[in-house]
Amino acid sequence: MSTSAHTPRSLLVTGGAGFIGSHLVRHLLAAHRDVRVVTLDALTYAGNPMNLADVQAAHGGRHRLVQGDICDGALVARLLAEHAVDTIVHLAAESHVDRSIDGPLAFVRTNVLGTATLLDAARRAWAGRADVRFHHVSTDEVYGSLGADGRFREDTPYDPSSPYSASKAGSDHLVRAWGRTYGLPVTITNCSNNYGPYQYPEKLIPLMVLNALSGRPLPVYGDGQQIRDWLYVQDHCEAIWLAATRGRPGETYNVGGDNQPTNLTIVKTLCHILDELVPLPTHESYEKLIRFVQDRPGHDRRYAMDIRKIAQELGWRPKETLETGLLKTVKWYLDHPEWVRSVHSQGDYTGWLEKNYANRSQSVP
Ligand code: NAD
Ligand code: TYD
Repeated sequence: MSTSAHTPRSLLVTGGAGFIGSHLVRHLLAAHRDVRVVTLDALTYAGNPMNLADVQAAHGGRHRLVQGDICDGALVARLLAEHAVDTIVHLAAESHVDRSIDGPLAFVRTNVLGTATLLDAARRAWAGRADVRFHHVSTDEVYGSLGADGRFREDTPYDPSSPYSASKAGSDHLVRAWGRTYGLPVTITNCSNNYGPYQYPEKLIPLMVLNALSGRPLPVYGDGQQIRDWLYVQDHCEAIWLAATRGRPGETYNVGGDNQPTNLTIVKTLCHILDELVPLPTHESYEKLIRFVQDRPGHDRRYAMDIRKIAQELGWRPKETLETGLLKTVKWYLDHPEWVRSVHSQGDYTGWLEKNYANRSQSVP
């Protein structure tokens, strides 16, 4: 199938101080010497300038971090004009399902209104140009939950369960609408769960690693048999770049790691890695810290991605296996205590845990 080439020169990356965004900015400045990047990030609890400190040191002349809100249309319009932006890669979002259960409206504001604000600023700034691209970074969670069989395809109907996934679904629809109605050259990637360095420790993998290292409980929701499709963050960044530069305008590409371990398997694997790297003085396994806690409301049971379209059209495949990726990730957290300290100083998120921990808690049999 044919692809459509786009050559970015000046990019606006929203959410570039967050987990995936910071990897993307690092990746594209290192791999493409002729591009300039403006990172627009509100620096919420999830955005951390430390995530970009090495990028700033290595490529400061081609990178600028602007603290600001994607809902601020005047600011977005000014950045697009001042930097002659020809490519927007949009990652800024409220991204954590548990927080969306506690406070859904922030998700609607940033993920829905923020995306619409960006799209409209792009439409006005680019007025009919074809040599531009709006790439939207989205999630597999828009498709809802799978039963025992099957995988999400690009034409799977949307069926989101959480306020987070519903707000991301809304943002995907807006992106397609701006493509169809105004002819804005848009592409979308819907990706499965990412993991790797710099991930804020409210998400499963870094939370488990850091809790284990500080002797705190490892809270497994429900029976721990939920299944996610895990992708190493660097692989995701390569997929985003390919879709933004070679993907066909108007198209969606599913991205995933082609693996489906249960949550409990992930947690036990992390415990075993830590047992090897940082053995407990008692020679017990970190597994002793596992606690089953009350399930998340509306908890999706299984995600699995069909990645044949991006593989066939754009030649993308994940390079990292779950085994090598998890080992790298645990080592990174062990080697970066100053980053962990800076994140913890903002206060841990324990809202969901605090509310539910007392209700049901027992160690693994
Ligand atoms: P993250 O929470 O680590 O980072 C989000 C960033 O957006 C932060 O730097 C934050 O400061 C910024 N931000 C939040 N609200 C903003 C606003 N109003 N204006 C400007 N900046 C704002 O998230 P992440 O895990 O890096 O996810 C990035 C994107 O990828 C999100 O759109 C998410 O939906 C999507 N995604 C994430 C995963 C995953 O597993 N983490 C999987 C698929 C898709
Ligand atoms: P998470 O990292 O929050 O990503 P998402 O909800 O977007 O998939 O959670 C991954 C899975 O791990 C999900 O099924 C919920 C589960 N989970 C736990 O069992 N315990 C935890 O403390 C967390 C944060 C998640």
